Amino acid sequence: MAEYTLLAKQIRALAEDEPNFIPVLSNASALIYENMTDLNWAGFYLMNKGSLMLGPFQGKVACIRIEVGKGVCGTAVAEDATQLVKDVHQFPGHIACDSASNSEIVVPIHSGGKVVAVLDIDSPLLARFDEDDREGLEEIVKAIEECADFSELTL
Ligand code: SME
Repeated sequence: MAEYTLLAKQIRALAEDEPNFIPVLSNASALIYENMTDLNWAGFYLMNKGSLMLGPFQGKVACIRIEVGKGVCGTAVAEDATQLVKDVHQFPGHIACDSASNSEIVVPIHSGGKVVAVLDIDSPLLARFDEDDREGLEEIVKAIEECADFSELTL
């Protein structure tokens, strides 16, 4: 947990210079990807014209649009709830951007009372993420919600 608290602190510190969501999310994806083990993708999807659009990320090329309610990311938006998926092959409608992915966690991000984006992290390991990761990543998202400026995002 201490590591997540440190990451959240770094994200807040970096946002002091420039709170626009593009640099904040870009650096957050880099910090997460560099500091967590056994990941093959870490990044963000942004609400845009009613669906999720690919945002800043680290990892392989990924799908560009995801409809609300589809896949793990779209389900996180539709339910406004973190999705902790131990085995993506058991998740109905999972969207496989990288066939190496076996587990995934997606956390919704809010601004002005609305879901504006999601944090999406994939791992080649089965059951890579547990309740401690959920708690830590929700702490990171809370930091992003508090320090990032989403006012220039076109919902
Ligand atoms: N697996 C996600 C799609 C995004 S990629 O993992 C980067 C999903 O089912 O929504």
